[in-house]
Amino acid sequence: LVHQNKFLVGGQLKPWTGKTTEVYSTISSTEDYKPTLLGSIPYMSEPEADEALEAAAKAFDKGKGLWPTMKVADRVACMEKFVKQMETKREEVVKLLMWEIGKNLPDSEKEFDRTVEYIYDTIEDYKQLDRDSANFKKRDGIYAHIRRGPLGIVLCLGPYNYPLNETFALLIPALIMGNTAIFKPAKHGVLLITPLLEAFRNSFPKGVVNIVYGRGREVAAPIMKSGRVDVLALIGNSKSAVALQDQHPHKNRLRLVLGLEAKNPAIVLRDADLDLAINECIAGTLSFNGQRCTALKLVYVHEDIIEEFNKRFSKRVDELKFGNPWEDGAKLTPLPEPEKPNYIQELIEDAKAHGATVVNGKGGKITDNYIFPAVLYPVNKEMRVFNEEQFGPVIPIVPFKNIDEPLDDIANSNYGQQVSLFGADIRTLAPLIDTLVNLVCRVNLNSSCQRGPDVYPFTGRKDSAVGTLSVHDALRSFSIRTFVASKDN
Ligand code: G3H
Repeated sequence: LVHQNKFLVGGQLKPWTGKTTEVYSTISSTEDYKPTLLGSIPYMSEPEADEALEAAAKAFDKGKGLWPTMKVADRVACMEKFVKQMETKREEVVKLLMWEIGKNLPDSEKEFDRTVEYIYDTIEDYKQLDRDSANFKKRDGIYAHIRRGPLGIVLCLGPYNYPLNETFALLIPALIMGNTAIFKPAKHGVLLITPLLEAFRNSFPKGVVNIVYGRGREVAAPIMKSGRVDVLALIGNSKSAVALQDQHPHKNRLRLVLGLEAKNPAIVLRDADLDLAINECIAGTLSFNGQRCTALKLVYVHEDIIEEFNKRFSKRVDELKFGNPWEDGAKLTPLPEPEKPNYIQELIEDAKAHGATVVNGKGGKITDNYIFPAVLYPVNKEMRVFNEEQFGPVIPIVPFKNIDEPLDDIANSNYGQQVSLFGADIRTLAPLIDTLVNLVCRVNLNSSCQRGPDVYPFTGRKDSAVGTLSVHDALRSFSIRTFVASKDN
């Protein structure tokens, strides 16, 4: 059991003696799927939110504080100290990732290692940013030393599907650029921050990192309402992002860095290598049970090959092993949100009522913490599963005859993150790619959608994102260009 009975504010790990919230896992060892108690977290409200805000504001001191004015090498040293201490906590964090969000062992290890790599890459890129010779310019007798300065106080909110990696994908670039931060761990994947608290406390000056726990409306809302937050950094859903922005009294002063919903489609053309397309679509739709913003959430297949595709794809889905995250070969694992299986079931029923069938034998079989992936065919626009971001194990297959059908759907979608395109003939692919890059931000050729490698830009059009993440771009998203000018006299 992990009882999170301290909280980090103003450089201190203060004992928490107030109300607590119990944290449960949907992973169960009992026949009736009774949830497992994992520990507890502080139940915070406005006074603690104010305290965290005050600490972050004091550390930033309107730009005059120790942290925002610190030299590059010193800030790098703090970040290096943090990541080195973090590395010693791998085993504890990985174990909590498995229990809290049901991510399988290889993916939990990958989440931890990828985050460590992200921090080292960020440090290197930050050093490079400072050394860049393009920072020095001269024009019309005026020299300019261009720099990047911090924005102020950042409120960071990460999602449950990458509670370590994506929270840190916001927090780390925000910090290294000289901002101070308040972060609230995700609802599921909250205890895994506990092993890292001392590393935060030991590595950064006081007040630079402050952590709050509890419900959004009780802790995040008062922080936003104060009007003192300069950047809202959130990966999650647009409903929360909009609600939080609306609470800020000076919205035009608020910078946004948002990673939101997506409905990434795969388009499988008639001449696609079917084995390859099926392999990639399995990974794209079902890794971490489809709970990724980059997951493939609609699969368009040309009608000439759809029968063969459905047969082979469904067989492969039914062969996937369901098990607890630490079990060898478990690709499908319990879902951390207890209400998710019922939601997926609703989507399946709605699709069936509108004429789709579940084409794989095991599809839709439900236990208290899991619903086996259902392959739905034929899916059309009348169905909820076509329009909603399912974020779970259900795969809508949409037949098409003419490429304009998926292209029009993508152009009309509210989202615009990525597309996977499967085909062989470059004469067909090239013009299609040229169109698709105007509709989304990344076209994956003969491969599934994904965020990585993290040195590449990660963003989306329309309702999918505001600002760009990943190492290089995140440093820019969390800073502003400033410069020192001097005359040639
Ligand atoms: O949930 C959205 C994540 O950014 C997906 O990242 O493609 O590396 O799984 P990933």
